[in-house]
Amino acid sequence: MSLERDLVSPDAEGDEQAIESALRPKRLAEFIGQGRVREQLSLVLESALRRNRPPDHVLMSGSPGLGKTTLAMIIAAELAMPLRLTSGPALERAGDLAAILSTLSEGEVLFIDEIHRMARPAEEMLYLAMEDFRVDIVVGKGPGATAIPLEIAPFTLVGATTRAGLLPAPLRDRFGFVAHMDFYDVPELEQVLRRSARLLGLDLPDAGAHEIARRSRGTPRIANRLLRRVRDFAEVRVDGVITRDVASAALDLYEVDAEGLDRLDRAVLNALLRKFGGGPVGLSTLAVAVGEEPETVEVVAEPFLVRQGLIARTPRGRVATASAWTHLGLAPPPDAFGAAQPVLFDDPPSPA
Ligand SMILES: Nc1ncnc2c1ncn2[C@@H]1O[C@H](COP(=O)(O)OP(=O)(O)OP(=O)(O)O)[C@@H](O)[C@H]1O
Ligand SMILES: [Mg+2]
Repeated sequence: MSLERDLVSPDAEGDEQAIESALRPKRLAEFIGQGRVREQLSLVLESALRRNRPPDHVLMSGSPGLGKTTLAMIIAAELAMPLRLTSGPALERAGDLAAILSTLSEGEVLFIDEIHRMARPAEEMLYLAMEDFRVDIVVGKGPGATAIPLEIAPFTLVGATTRAGLLPAPLRDRFGFVAHMDFYDVPELEQVLRRSARLLGLDLPDAGAHEIARRSRGTPRIANRLLRRVRDFAEVRVDGVITRDVASAALDLYEVDAEGLDRLDRAVLNALLRKFGGGPVGLSTLAVAVGEEPETVEVVAEPFLVRQGLIARTPRGRVATASAWTHLGLAPPPDAFGAAQPVLFDDPPSPA
């Protein structure tokens, strides 16, 4: 992720992770924003608690840093059940998954992060487990192989993905509840920042919180990370108080611009405008131009740029909007995507 790469040195990373987990809300009531998801989820959990049954399986999709892992932990906490953590890439063989499933206790919450990256055989085993709380253990090889059905304890699967589109339909359909996490608005991020400042014992007046919030790319993780960088600046260069000017000077120093675009975002925009005349250009060509993996551009930079109305995805490729040109201080060409259409007639159209 671009911000992690830019702002965190390798040895500081352990520290940063410890702080990140200290800042995680532990209960649903502490979780800020995502109002609809929170309300729906609280109904799902409450009704499961009343029936004394594990709730439906939950899928969470959304950009990095929006709170998917946090919510998974909250689900387990609200149910007062243990949480088992694993991830798609760790489940290479069906046996890896079988080992986990067969040792779950009743009601346990199994969290599979990056669930879209699970290997096929494990995925197929998961279908049966989700539906019937059963796995088929295959013994032997070739024509003599037999499947031995094994009952497993009823559990709740919580899956997280940054790329819901890559999830096969049979898997997606087995989740009873799908939570789409959206970017946070500025007031919500201000709330996240005020909470974090309180926990970290920082002096963050409202105007300072506002300045950081509006440059946080709609993402709590980035808000918290920028807060720590601004804190460093405030402690070393001034008296520690994070005023608007202090926040603004610190963020300029870290190359986070007024709209929150970071270096990767700007590199993508720059390439799109200066190398490809605003597009359309294919994702992989664009990724090569900025020296990144297509997945990084697609998952980390693009959703925010699209949401800011700076680029658009079209069937022919990525195109810059008129605002993108303006954002980089360039004049948009008359045919720029989203520019006011030129008037092609002198007379007003006659009423039909
Ligand atoms: N709603 C929220 N309220 C307060 N803090 C939040 C909220 N959501 C996320 N955070 C903060 O942001 C950080 C990142 O959240 P989290 O790790 O849950 O994101 P994620 O969606 O799992 O990201 P990834 O896709 O990279 O795994 C957490 O440490 C937490 O402190
Ligand atoms: Mg996560």
